[in-house]
Amino acid sequence: MNEPTPRRPRSAPLPPPAAVGMNIAQADTPALLLDLDAFERNLARLTESLRGTSVRVRPHAKSHKCPEIALRQIARGAVGVCCQKVSEAEALVHGGVSDVLVANEVVGTQKLSRLAELARQARMSVCVDDAGNLADLAQAVRAAGVTLDVLVEVNVGANRCGVEPGEPVLGLAQLIAQSPGLRFAGVHAYHGAAQHLRTPQQRLEAIAQAVSKVRATLQLLESNGLSAEIVTGAGTGTYMLEAASGVYNEIQPGSYVFMDADYGRNLGEDGKPVREFEHSLFILATVMSHTVATRAVVDAGLKAHSVDSGMPLVADVNGAAYTKASDEHGVIELAGPGTLKLGQKVRLVPGHCDPTVNLYDWLVCYRGERVEAIWPVSARGAFY
Ligand SMILES: Cc1ncc(COP(=O)(O)O)c(C=O)c1O
Repeated sequence: MNEPTPRRPRSAPLPPPAAVGMNIAQADTPALLLDLDAFERNLARLTESLRGTSVRVRPHAKSHKCPEIALRQIARGAVGVCCQKVSEAEALVHGGVSDVLVANEVVGTQKLSRLAELARQARMSVCVDDAGNLADLAQAVRAAGVTLDVLVEVNVGANRCGVEPGEPVLGLAQLIAQSPGLRFAGVHAYHGAAQHLRTPQQRLEAIAQAVSKVRATLQLLESNGLSAEIVTGAGTGTYMLEAASGVYNEIQPGSYVFMDADYGRNLGEDGKPVREFEHSLFILATVMSHTVATRAVVDAGLKAHSVDSGMPLVADVNGAAYTKASDEHGVIELAGPGTLKLGQKVRLVPGHCDPTVNLYDWLVCYRGERVEAIWPVSARGAFY
């Protein structure tokens, strides 16, 4: 009898779909690709845009979940990174990042004690919007014998987490300042709902309102003897507004490294899509069925990219539109016959980069046509 083929242990990640030195067209699909030239231009462009301002940059690593990228952002001057989950922070710290803001609330004793443990290895900070949670945090920090920077999250219009501006922020800040092991570090005022408002006027108005709420809150804190060292917020859609506000001193854009299709629909002053950052993230897919001349089906469906912000764009193929995604299939309508052929590889620009990245273990990084590096998406699936 033949020996059974050795099987990969079930818990091991899939091996990378490509190897360094390959042409990207040889990569197995679906694969998550990073165009290194475009990615590096995006990093440089953020630095360039902020020249002359005094804000610190702390990019949000929830977009990429990849310490290799975080370290490159820090090499470009970022003071550290943000993340949303303790397990993301663990992956980033393990990957060499030494300053992480969990720009989110952390609730539950297990998570809080892991967060406190991390503070032994890196400079950690976290957000709160509840006095009971703050007490639990203080207890975890005491048990671990560490100190932690804490920011009060303030709701500036996104109506997600955060206490209302003014007195509720002051109340929590005073509690932090009185808690041994905790240090009141400032306010977290991210206006998520403003990032994808399509016109510059809409974004301007939304951030102007946020800024005036934050300014009034800072004045109240000051008049009560509390100073917010860090005033942080902003994403790719509005970061220049917060940077110019004179109120925010730290910004946390995430998607700028990749630029997904949805961000590509934000408009500039000229009424045209803003082209400040370039698409650098792609899904490489293969045409797996082409039975009708004007329809090709690729092997990248719902499980290969996120469609919560719309369908992906088809790069490099004139007139092609990705119109329907099912679990394992993506339907592309073609402008005419002969545009694509069976087995051909196509690059798709994902509709929403963050949840798409979270579907992959590996980033296949290429320059020109050549695979230059394979980076692990170390915080992939880091939800807790
Ligand atoms: C708290 C926080 N900060 C920053 C960002 C980064 O935003 P973007 O990816 O739009 O740049 C996000 C994204 O959702 C976020 O939730």
